[in-house]
Amino acid sequence: MTARRVLARVGRAACGLPFLFWAAAACAQLAPEPASGVAPKRAAVGQRFMVAAAHPLAVDAGYEVLKRGGTAMDAAVAVQLVLGLVEPQSSGVGGGAFIVHYSAADQRLRTYDGRETAPAAARPDRFLGLFGRPMGFIDAVLSGKSVGVPGTLAVLELAHRNHGRVEWAALATPAIDLAENGFAVSPRLHALLEWDKWLARDSFAARYFYDSAGRPKPVGTILRNPEYAAVLRDVAKQGADAFYRGPIAADLAAAVQSHPLGPGDLAVEDLAGYRAKEREPVCGAFRAYRVCGMGPPSSGGIAVLEILGILERLPRTDYVRDPVRAVHYFAEAARLAYADRDRYVADPDFVDVPVAGLLAPAYLAERASLVAAEKSLVRALPGRPAGAERSAFADGVEADLASTTHFSIIDAEGNAVALTSSIEFLFGNHRFVRGFLLNNELTDFSFVAEEGGRPVANRVEARKRPRSSMSPTLVFDADGRLVMIVGSPGGHAIIHYTARVIVAALDWGMPLQAALDAPHFGSRNGPTELEAGTPVERLRPQLEALGHPVRVRELASGVHAVLRVGDTWVGAADPRRDGTARGE
Ligand code: DON
Repeated sequence: MTARRVLARVGRAACGLPFLFWAAAACAQLAPEPASGVAPKRAAVGQRFMVAAAHPLAVDAGYEVLKRGGTAMDAAVAVQLVLGLVEPQSSGVGGGAFIVHYSAADQRLRTYDGRETAPAAARPDRFLGLFGRPMGFIDAVLSGKSVGVPGTLAVLELAHRNHGRVEWAALATPAIDLAENGFAVSPRLHALLEWDKWLARDSFAARYFYDSAGRPKPVGTILRNPEYAAVLRDVAKQGADAFYRGPIAADLAAAVQSHPLGPGDLAVEDLAGYRAKEREPVCGAFRAYRVCGMGPPSSGGIAVLEILGILERLPRTDYVRDPVRAVHYFAEAARLAYADRDRYVADPDFVDVPVAGLLAPAYLAERASLVAAEKSLVRALPGRPAGAERSAFADGVEADLASTTHFSIIDAEGNAVALTSSIEFLFGNHRFVRGFLLNNELTDFSFVAEEGGRPVANRVEARKRPRSSMSPTLVFDADGRLVMIVGSPGGHAIIHYTARVIVAALDWGMPLQAALDAPHFGSRNGPTELEAGTPVERLRPQLEALGHPVRVRELASGVHAVLRVGDTWVGAADPRRDGTARGE
């Protein structure tokens, strides 16, 4: 079943349960089609603080922390630990995360890398099968080989040490309470469990998510997860070390090494050796704004900035007045940015990534000069930015589905967090250990190690981090004031979603919620993609006349964003998922 059909079912199920808060939100997705093609949610407005995330229970946890005077980073810890419980298909302590943090007191921007690493035993031929051919993607997802060393707890702890005020242990309490007292299976979770063909094969997951007949537990069933609560209690008391060393780490390694669908090589030493890292942020200009995001090993920050930098050098568009031109130029800018990202971006501890060269104004102008007003490039070639001579090729197998999660937070002192977090595929590796799911993030590596006799930048290597598209982003105005916090899940389309929402809100002047509701479009240097079931589909003939190879498809974003409007903060949640925003 396609993701959109899953969503439609989620909506139908939700409409049968109007007593549930999130059910009402999902139900709204089935309202008559508005001009934008998706039913808008209502934005939240606050004078002091705001949190927007993928599940109301996680938003509530963040809201309570902020209300009691906690920092944005305090709230982020609480939100992430709850999301790992109530949105288990998307993220959790078994996965990884990137954090972009702004500290108002010293106006300092810092970025944190909690990306999974390959085990020390990993080799470049990891995902090659018979006759040196790449393994099937799903086979890799479901095998022990795709499980990377999780980074979520390590990066939360590192960033919290630098930016937290509330005691670490207290921030786990909302998630522990919910895990012990239970939370209701949402229509979305139920529909995704029904869609998934593999999770029930894991006996622990089967017991937790499915009934004795193998059916997903009905919507509204109260799920209790004492094992997850116990993990969090240990982590609350002893810090992230309780996860990376000792019995939890031993269980993780054993689960991967005894994997029924292909043993992996994750070892307790890999867990003990994991380190979250602070990275250099990547920043660039977009009109009068300064846009900052996550640098490598994510390609997100670079590619979002390249799209914006190229767009700024093309004739200005307005989606409302001339949507064909807006889609044309956006898709062309995206083609060029994806061509560069595919070739050049990988883990900077292993590969020289020409970040400055890719974002240099002269290089962006050169890339923009390749765009024609009346003709699509169809397929862009990577450019030759300064520093490229040191880089290898890059390529990869990538997929997008309804997993991963992004949240945005501003606190009462003006500190901000943009955090995107993932277990990669829907339900990750489909192994449920100690009440959480393992990631399959290593499938973000290139399955192919060499191309044309040259090594691929994003090939598998021991202790390396796979390239990501996650794009947690902060935007500042000409006076240096923070104006926007944004990001999304969505595989490598994350880059699109984030860039399009920034352009819609800041360039086309759409209210934030309308910017999220509006249809998605773009290109990952393949076809020009138009979001199925939305009015943008109708542009197909005009775009084809410009030479665009058009593909209409589901584009399952999950943007959660905060925007400064005058003296207030507006929070908005993507109508394509269950999220909400709450502030004061
Ligand atoms: O790091 C990345 O870019 C991917 N592993 C994210 C996966 C994702 O967003 C899945 N789908 N929504």
